[in-house]
Formats: sequence, C-alpha cells, structure tokens
Amino acid sequence: MNLLSLISSCLFLSLTLISIPLNSAQCIDQPYPTQPNIKLASKCLLVKKQPMKNVNYQVQNDTNMFVIQFNCEIKDITRCAKVKSSFEEAGLIISSTLILNTPILINAKFREMESAGILGAAGPYRTMPMKDDDGFERLYPQSLVKQFQLSVHPEFAPVDIIADFNSLIPFWFEGDPPITSQQIGFLELIIHELMHGLGFASSWNVYLDNFPEAATPEIVGLTTGTTLPDLNAKFVFNGFQESAFDKYLILLPENKLISSYANELNKFADFGTTYENAFDFLNQFVVSPQFLVAKEIFSSSISHVDSLTYTNTSEFLMTFSQEKGRTLNDNIRIGGNYAGGAIGHKLRLILESLGYATKESPNYKSPSPPDLPFNEDLNSSSWNNFSYKFYHTFVVGITIIMINYL
Ligand SMILES: *[C@@H]1O[C@H](CO)[C@@H](O)[C@H](O)[C@H]1NC(C)=O
Ligand SMILES: *[C@@H]1O[C@H](CO)[C@@H](O)[C@H](O)[C@H]1NC(C)=O
Ligand SMILES: *[C@@H]1O[C@H](CO)[C@@H](O)[C@H](O)[C@H]1NC(C)=O
Ligand SMILES: *[C@@H]1O[C@H](CO)[C@@H](O)[C@H](O)[C@H]1NC(C)=O
Repeated sequence: MNLLSLISSCLFLSLTLISIPLNSAQCIDQPYPTQPNIKLASKCLLVKKQPMKNVNYQVQNDTNMFVIQFNCEIKDITRCAKVKSSFEEAGLIISSTLILNTPILINAKFREMESAGILGAAGPYRTMPMKDDDGFERLYPQSLVKQFQLSVHPEFAPVDIIADFNSLIPFWFEGDPPITSQQIGFLELIIHELMHGLGFASSWNVYLDNFPEAATPEIVGLTTGTTLPDLNAKFVFNGFQESAFDKYLILLPENKLISSYANELNKFADFGTTYENAFDFLNQFVVSPQFLVAKEIFSSSISHVDSLTYTNTSEFLMTFSQEKGRTLNDNIRIGGNYAGGAIGHKLRLILESLGYATKESPNYKSPSPPDLPFNEDLNSSSWNNFSYKFYHTFVVGITIIMINYL
C-alpha cells in the first residue's frame, strides 16, 4: 500500500488547496435498477449519530437481516408469493454468511417489463463517498456504511437496495416441478443481484458514449439524468471516483492496482477546475494523455468473475450469466457442495475485503467519513448520452482478480 499512499499524497495536496469547510458530500442515487445509467447526484448532509454500544453483536444466523418491501404488480398471487419468499430466502442465506448489525431494507418490485429480454436487476439505491485508509475517497453502498455504525456519515436514503424483476421471464422457484431447460432459477438470480447491491460492483465503466473504447471510474458531478445536459451549466472537475470494490482490484498481467490507473486519470486536472460545460470537459479529456490510460483499461467487465474460470465451480454465483435449466442447488452440487452454499469461499473473502464482517472474520473494516467537500455553489451537469455497459460488457483479454486484504 506504500506505493498507493505515495501517489495519493500528491492528489490530496491539491485537494487541500481547494477545501472549503462544508458539511455535505456528494452521494449518487440510482433509483431505477434496470436503468443504472440514470444517476442522480444527491447532496448528502454529513449527519451525526450516537454509535450503538455494542457494534459487533452477532445476530443469530437464522435471523433475516433483510427487510423486504415488496410490490407485486401482477395478478397471479401464487407467483407473487413465490417471488416474495425467494427474496426472504435470499436474505436468510446472506444473513447466515455475513454478520450484519443493522437491517438492510430492500424495495423490490415484480412486474411486466416492456421487453421479455430483461431479467431485472438490483443495486444500491445510494452510494456515498467514504475515505479509505489509503487516502482515496471511494463510493460505498449504503447497506455497508450502515453496518459501520459511524458517529458521522453521509445521510442515508430511506431504502438500501432497490430491485426490479420482470414477470415475463420463465423463472423457476424453489419447490416448483423440476426445472426445464429454458427456466432461470430465481433464488440464484436474487442472491447474485443482492451481491451487487451489497457492493460487488466496480465503478470503472464506459461513461463516454462517443468513446466506447475508453473506461473510467465514476466522474464526480457528472450525473446522467433523463433530461438533456444543460450546455450553459459550468462543469467542475472533481475527479474520477472509484467504488469500494475497486480498492483491491488488480489488473493482470500488469499486476498493478487498478486504483493506480484511477490516480493517473486524476492527474488530468486539478480538482475544482471549471469547464464551460460537460462537453468542453469531455473534449479536453479525450485529447489528454490520461485518455490513453482510459483506453488501456477498456474491455474488462470488472463487476463479475470470469466465466471460463468459475462456471461449474463453487464460485459460480458472480459469473456474468446464469445457466438456464439449473437450480441454485444444482449449481452448488456441480461446484462440489461447498459448505458455504451459494456464497463461495472467494466471494466471502471479497465481501470481507469490502468491509463486511463474517463469522470467520468478525470485524468490520470501516473507512472514515468523507472530508472532500462538495462545493455547494456549483451545479452538477447532467448528461444524457453515457452508455452503460455494467451488466453487459464482457471480458476479452484482461483478467481481473480481487485480492483479500487482511
Ligand atoms: C447457524 O450456525 C451453526 C454453527 O455455525 C450451524 O450449525 C447452524 O446450522 C446455522 N443455522 C443456520 C440457520 O444457518
Ligand atoms: C459447465 O458444465 C456444463 C455441463 O457439464 C458444460 O456444458 C459447460 O461447458 C461447462 N462450462 C464451463 C465454462 O466449464
Ligand atoms: C445552479 O442552478 C440554479 C438553479 O437551477 C441557478 O439559479 C444557479 O445560477 C446555478 N449556479 C451555477 C453556478 O451555475
Ligand atoms: C444523444 O444521442 C442522441 C442519439 O444518439 C443524439 O441525437 C443527441 O444529439 C445526443 N445528445 C447529446 C447531448 O450529445
């Protein structure tokens, strides 16, 4: 980590110059899980609370720490009940692996979507900047920040995870007659998606629609709403921001922390540099040396594990696609009946690296509240044309692994 802290000290030197004492952080809300490209910048006040007395209390492993707010928008009440109980079962399975001290609220919807090709999705409703021990601020999902029981944290949204699934898909539910070759196991899908909601997600992505050959982390202040960008709004560069998940990613075969690339990108300009508008920023970015770095990272799906390596193993859960015609239990059996069930050993280590406590590693690894001020005077520019390839981009060439850092 020495290398990284060395680099980050340069970065934070420039930050201190523009620091204005303010009390809000810039959170990102993604209210529509199947349209994750719609991101709303939300100013979160830093709120104070009394930490709980005994942060590490361990709930019974049969307590469901997920609270489901379920809206079933179809008429088939039997199917609605199956969907709801799958969410509950998924919550129980995750609760038995993680030690959670604060309930996680899932707002889930089951409805007929516009197209029969969309399965559905789930993700954090709000992610918030937190300061890691290497000096970088990264975006943490609210579900995780809640567990840290910090005395100061960015304000929470009323919901932790938002989920939306398509009733047009031939899902198979636990207890149904044997699965057919076209059916998709719903329980496995939910657990997979909840993992994304808990923070198994990189912020590196293709954000520059006109340049699909370049990937960057989240661009602070550049939100992607449904309206056209306001060309008159000044754009203030406040950096490229990774997610908590990115902290431990290593790019192979270079064997370099992916964060070191984020740090290179952040040399593009001093934080606080103002551009005429978002397009002016983009135009300058694509002719900068940093753009070449962004191109180097492209072609990786870093929010899933490699299919060739992990399909048919105990780490099947976070591969990019779910095999049709196989139930969760089938996959667990094919993977060798791992004692942890759906949550493989490596996946558990990743969750621990993110900061979650587990029975095997019962301490949370908490970052600090953010100290990067969000400049209240500057409006965030919105941008409509970023493409979003999070669940769709697929890996060619570069393998990315995550190390467990204890
Ligand atoms: C709870 O944990 C104990 C020991 O680790 C185990 O024997 C038991 O089956 C678990 N119960 C559930 C519901 O997972
Ligand atoms: C997984 O197993 C199935 C069935 O045995 C096989 O058809 C498929 O090729 C395997 N996939 C990988 C990536 O090993
Ligand atoms: C920010 O937006 C508000 C209202 O949309 C506007 O009145 C204000 O002038 C804007 N500020 C800047 C710095 O663009
Ligand atoms: C966004 O993309 C659409 C179609 O791809 C195009 O017509 C529109 O001009 C673009 N908007 C901006 C602001 O680039």
